[in-house]
Amino acid sequence: MSLRTATGDDLDAIMALEQASFPTDAWSRTAMSAELASPHGRYLVDVEDDRVVGYGGVRSVRGADDADIQTIALEPSRRGTGRGRTLLRALIAEARDRGARELFLEVRADNPVAQALYVSEGFVEIARRPRYYQPDDVDAIIMQLNLRGEGGTDR
Ligand SMILES: CC(C)(COP(=O)(O)OP(=O)(O)OC[C@H]1O[C@@H](n2cnc3c(N)ncnc32)[C@H](O)[C@@H]1OP(=O)(O)O)[C@@H](O)C(=O)NCCC(=O)NCCS
Repeated sequence: MSLRTATGDDLDAIMALEQASFPTDAWSRTAMSAELASPHGRYLVDVEDDRVVGYGGVRSVRGADDADIQTIALEPSRRGTGRGRTLLRALIAEARDRGARELFLEVRADNPVAQALYVSEGFVEIARRPRYYQPDDVDAIIMQLNLRGEGGTDR
């Protein structure tokens, strides 16, 4: 696998994966385009044979304490072989490089695969938003990762 920064040229490929991965709550093309263009975060694509097979993004305003994992998804045939973990670790590193001290994300309560990945990388559940995902009527779990300490310079 090969990770690189996503650009506007990746929008079609990312939207195809977005719609396949989140059929009931995919982001709009307009919203995703704005995300890719934003200086306040970074999106990465996982490329195989010149084809985008995964993507993920982090919003992390430089100088801000808090950052958010915005999204992460892989093509179904590429799941379960460690690519998601590699992508997530790269996004965590990006947030840390931008100076974030806390990293947050939201995950559907009916997505045990993603939850297991996040827990294994140190995220902990801090809150639930009941029935947040509509029309599916599924709770959102809010998770947090402390980026301070572990050899870093705490302020
Ligand atoms: C969630 C997702 C990004 C994880 O990426 P992945 O490449 O499949 O995951 P990895 O192979 O890196 O595995 C990481 C961990 O996820 C969990 N996991 C992966 N596949 C799993 C499965 N089939 N069943 C249970 N847990 C699983 C395990 O904890 C695994 O760690 P382990 O291999 O040490 O057991 C990917 O499955 C995906 O695109 N899912 C659909 C989109 C989505 O749900 N995105 C998250 C939205 S919050």
